[in-house]
Formats: sequence, structure tokens, C-alpha cells
Amino acid sequence: MKEQIESIASEAMEKLENVQDMKSLEEIRVLFLGKKGKLTGILKGMGALSPEERPVVGQMVNEVRKQVEDSILKNKNRLLQKEREEKIAKETIDVTMPGTLLARGKKHPLTQVLDEIKEVFIGMGYEIAEGPEVELDYYNFEALNIPKNHPARDTQDSFYINENVVLRTQTSPVQIRVMENKKPPIKIICPGRVYRSDQVDATHSPIFHQVEGLVVDKGVTMGDLIGTLQVFARSLFGEDTNIRLRPHHFPFTEPSAEVDVSCWGCGGKGCRICKNEGWIEILGAGMVHPKVLEICGIDPKVYSGFAFGLGVERTAMGRFNIDDMRLLYENDMRFLKQF
Ligand code: DAH
Repeated sequence: MKEQIESIASEAMEKLENVQDMKSLEEIRVLFLGKKGKLTGILKGMGALSPEERPVVGQMVNEVRKQVEDSILKNKNRLLQKEREEKIAKETIDVTMPGTLLARGKKHPLTQVLDEIKEVFIGMGYEIAEGPEVELDYYNFEALNIPKNHPARDTQDSFYINENVVLRTQTSPVQIRVMENKKPPIKIICPGRVYRSDQVDATHSPIFHQVEGLVVDKGVTMGDLIGTLQVFARSLFGEDTNIRLRPHHFPFTEPSAEVDVSCWGCGGKGCRICKNEGWIEILGAGMVHPKVLEICGIDPKVYSGFAFGLGVERTAMGRFNIDDMRLLYENDMRFLKQF
């Protein structure tokens, strides 16, 4: 029996010496110490021993058991440590490895132009104002000196929510909202989306963008308007750009003008882009109508102002030489990638 125990002990120790993973370690434990394990088997067979042998064998088995248990524990710790090290090694991030390249997006050409426009005016001390796209008829038309049945309404056919609520056809209503809430000096631009019941074609879209400008203070003149627009046109289209004002009519300005810039294609000589005119119209402008100031509670005898409204699509088309407005909305990557 003694030899049997010794042989079990050396078998166990040999197996434990070579164990490489937790699963085999558990198998060894079951094989020797489990309910049907080899050492347990010896203890079970002790009934057949003589009373003198029993304590000797019992002590031997216990010593071996202790030895095996100690070794299992030691190996368990060793294997756990090894597992941890392997895991760390496997999960280490090599910061010098080249990463996965993410395709970098960029701003839509309309946003690019809008940002440039904002930058120019912010540089001249303007603040950005905003107003609702779903607008009261009062702000979109009435307060801008366009009463019901005024022929000017025909040129800006709107989408009506109901008789008093429209999708704004222009950013000019923001002028009224600002003047109602703030007394001069006022110096704002208002970029935003506007809506008109127009058929889609190369130069029209039912949704487009404008930037409105408004300056009201004591002694503001047409000269200030022209100077401002000159600076704007040169910043956006280049230092050699000239502007030209043609008399026009807007109900909310007096006098009013349409403003052209010298063609960015030919510099004014005449080409395909400007249809041989040498000039391209980009905005409407004028001196704020005294009636409009009055409606907003600003005394036209003390204050004067100028205003302008600029089409962002038209400006972007000029800036990037785009000949069809629809391209700006189709989100075709082959087109957008070019800017
Ligand atoms: N709101 C006008 C339009 O959409 C553009 C415009 C013209 C705005 C003259 C102005 C202005 O502020 O003074 O056609």
C-alpha cells in the first residue's frame, strides 16, 4: 500500500509539473483528489487494514494530499498569471501601426459660400440674426410695405399654411423682427432658407437661401450702402471686382436698386457666363423705406438705414462656375467632391 501511495504521489507531481492550462489542472485535481480520485480511493480501502497500519497509511495519504493540494494551488496561480500576461500581450495596442483611413468630408459649396459671406460681414462688425421659416403674413409682406393685393406679391408666390401664415419668401421679415425688438444702432445680417412656389429649373428652386443685411443708425446714406457692397463683392469675387447699381423697385426700400458685380469670368468684357453683359446681378438693395421704420417704431426723421438681400445659390454658382442650380441639391458625390 505504501508503494501504491508513493507511486500515486509521484504520478501526481509529475503531471502537475507539466500542466499547461487550467482545464488540465482541474482534470488532475479530479483524478487524484476528486470523489472517485486515486487518493480518495486509498482512503476508502483503509477499512481492510489492520488497526496499526491505519494511522500510518492515513498520515501518508494526508501528507500526499497536502502536497498535491499545495502544488495545485501554486500551479493555479502560475497559470492565472500566464493567462493574464498572454491577454495583455494580445490586447496591447501598437500606437505606431498605421490606422484605418477615414474618408474626410468637407463643407457643401453652399455652406462654404455662406461661411465666407458671414465672415466678411462679421469682419465689418455685423451681428447674425435669425427668424422663423414659417412666418406670419404680416412680417413677410404687410410690415414690409407689401399690403394684400399689392402686385409685388405676384413675384413672390408663397406656400400658404393658412391666410395669415406662410413659408417665408424672403429673409426681409427678419428686418422687421429685429427692428421691433432693438433700437438703433442696428447692424445685422440674416442668413436663412426661403420658399417660393416656383417650378424647378436650372436657375429656380422652391427652396433656396438668402442673406439679408440691415443697418440702421443716424446719418446712414446710400454711400454707406455702396461702400459696404463694394467691400463685400471684392472679398468674395476678388480685388478687381466692381459693382454697379441699377434703379429698381422694392416696396420696402426707397430708393431701391438691383446690384450687379463685374463678371468673374471675363472681368467685364463679356463672355458666356455673363451672357456678354459684363455684369451679373447678385442682390437687391436700397434705403429702408420711412414707412417701414415707422411701422417698427423708429423715427425716420432721426434715423435712416440701408438694407440688402442676397441670393446664396446665385453667389455660389458664380463663385464656382456652376451652371445648374439643381446640382447643388442632388448630393451627387461626383459633383460635390470638386469643391
Ligand atoms: N427680399 C428681396 C427679394 O427677395 C431682396 C431684397 C431687396 C432685400 C432689397 C432687401 C432689399 O433687404 O433692401 O427679392
